[in-house]
Amino acid sequence: MPSSPSPDAGFVSAAIVSTDATFHQGLTQSLNGKAERFRIDVCITEPFTAIADLHLDRLREAAPDVIFVDLESDPQVGLKFAEYLLESKLTRSVVAAGPADSPDLLLSAMRAGVVEFIPKPLDIEQVRGTLDRIWKRAGKSGAAPATEEKRAGQTLCVFSGKGGSGSTTFAVNLAVEIHRTTRQRTLLVDLDLELGDTALLLGMEPRFSFVDLIRNFHRVDAGLLASYIERHSSGVELLAAPLKPAGFEDVEPEQVAQIFAFLKQHYDYIVVDAPKSLNSVTRAAIQVADNVLLLVTPDLPSVRNAARCLPLLDQLERPGRPDWIQVVANRISPRQLISLGDIRKTLNRDVGATLRNDYQSTMDAINEGRPAVLDRNSIFAKDVREMASRITGVQVADRDGGFLSGLFGRSR
Ligand SMILES: Nc1ncnc2c1ncn2[C@@H]1O[C@H](COP(=O)(O)OP(=O)(O)O)[C@@H](O)[C@H]1O
Ligand SMILES: [Mg+2]
Repeated sequence: MPSSPSPDAGFVSAAIVSTDATFHQGLTQSLNGKAERFRIDVCITEPFTAIADLHLDRLREAAPDVIFVDLESDPQVGLKFAEYLLESKLTRSVVAAGPADSPDLLLSAMRAGVVEFIPKPLDIEQVRGTLDRIWKRAGKSGAAPATEEKRAGQTLCVFSGKGGSGSTTFAVNLAVEIHRTTRQRTLLVDLDLELGDTALLLGMEPRFSFVDLIRNFHRVDAGLLASYIERHSSGVELLAAPLKPAGFEDVEPEQVAQIFAFLKQHYDYIVVDAPKSLNSVTRAAIQVADNVLLLVTPDLPSVRNAARCLPLLDQLERPGRPDWIQVVANRISPRQLISLGDIRKTLNRDVGATLRNDYQSTMDAINEGRPAVLDRNSIFAKDVREMASRITGVQVADRDGGFLSGLFGRSR
């Protein structure tokens, strides 16, 4: 090899190929912002069709760990160029960039073997995340975050035995609130592969879904994972349900378990909005969850269905952790016919938390595609905040005491 830096040189050497001056500038700034980790060795500003031996020699000489290829000017030739770079071993990894609204290009880039796709125009936060992952993957020495022991993310599975119990509303708000107060990486997973609507509640239109991730899982690493996941303006990340209903028949429970094992390595908190049925996919998710939050509303069908589901959930026991299933009573109001005591008696267990009835604020939030916890005043938001605080241990002054204090924590 020529003068290539050794893998232990402590930094990642990078090359940029783009005709777009703004892209060069933005990426250079981001790389320079991490100058202790990245060094830019080659910049090529010529169009792909004008790239000559001279440029390839420069790349060969520098042997960059990563080449950023901006596909926007000429996607077809750019993809061929990216493939060429990898096949001829001019680099170990190619990161592609292209317009944010071109899922076809993203898919083609993935097929060509790129490790990451950066949407244009550049979002500095997103680029930073990409650079962190490249750094980790490169396994460089020095501060070496790659060798850091990372604790697996806490997985909370929100489930209810009856439609309309508010599980999606709760899961979405819980995830947003956990991220808002901890600023830790938080992922919301919509496991309702048939009619999932978490994206709607977040006002998002995701390009990819859990099913796409499953289909391509054999080749997914942290970089590609990022391509399947969308970031909400609140900072919560979303792995959405497919826009068109997808049967769960072709989704193997083992795949679900594998995916969650993988996701847990990348997120601090994972909130799952589970479908209403205790099908094999739901069960697989519950198996890997640290806690199940069983939502029940104070009406006969809901309590009855919760009572029917509990024995099945109990079968998936967690030795030594009898509290791993928590009953959350939603839509609680002073006028309800079925009391919390009735629910407790019927289910033969404590009600771990309550969320008060707040139709206006939850409905407004759905219609606006803006989770209620982002607007601070509603009683529903207040109750979700309290619940999130008990899970994360991040204190917020709100209602007093409660059953859940310290039950979740991080002491799993
Ligand atoms: N605490 C609450 N108070 C009043 N209405 C609620 C509450 N939680 C949820 N809802 C309403 O219940 C309906 C069903 O909620 P959703 O989250 O879609 O339930 P699920 O996902 O269990 O089917 C929505 O119209 C939502 O606004
Ligand atoms: Mg739902």
